[in-house]
Amino acid sequence: MTKMRSNALLALLAALLIVLGFIAFAPVGKDAVSQPVAGQDDPREAIALNDEQLEYVLAQMRGFLVSVQDLDSALYENDFQAIAQIAAKQAPGAGRNPPSGLRDAFPDGFNMMRKQMRGAFARMEQAALQSDPEAFHAAKQRALSACNACHEGYRFVPEPE
Ligand code: HEC
Repeated sequence: MTKMRSNALLALLAALLIVLGFIAFAPVGKDAVSQPVAGQDDPREAIALNDEQLEYVLAQMRGFLVSVQDLDSALYENDFQAIAQIAAKQAPGAGRNPPSGLRDAFPDGFNMMRKQMRGAFARMEQAALQSDPEAFHAAKQRALSACNACHEGYRFVPEPE
């Protein structure tokens, strides 16, 4: 092999290594993010949302779980005033400002359960204002049933680009 040829071969090998390095260590980018966050055979109906909508709705979800914990603590303290305030924050019409198009992206079944859950928070508030632990318990069960039914039926996926 001539010197020139082996130099060319070395340069080619170096280029190949650089390309392989990029493939191996490239940051996980948009391609990975646009994969559904579920297994292949997940039977739940997928709801496609854009980035802003996804971030908003998942933050809301985490807020629901925080509210459920706060309600538990307040109930343990027998603090119906606090219960009413916590529940009111998740009741319908509590001054939320969802990103545009979010409501339209929700299927009817999803909306039904969403409303059932919001309504149940309103009933929790009413029950707390009347210091009625039984009505509060029933309303909270209704809200949690809506959480669980919806989680059984639906999942979110990033909108295709
Ligand atoms: C109308 C439908 C619906 C209702 C009602 C609902 N959720 Fe969700 N929630 C979802 C969907 C869909 C996801 C995404 C699941 C997925 O993609 O795997 C989700 C995700 C979540 C997550 C994960 C958030 C994250 O950052 O990944 C939490 C926590 C959660 N929900 C809590 C709750 C709680 C608590 C309630 C009831 C008080 C509730 N949700 C009510 C549909 C709902």
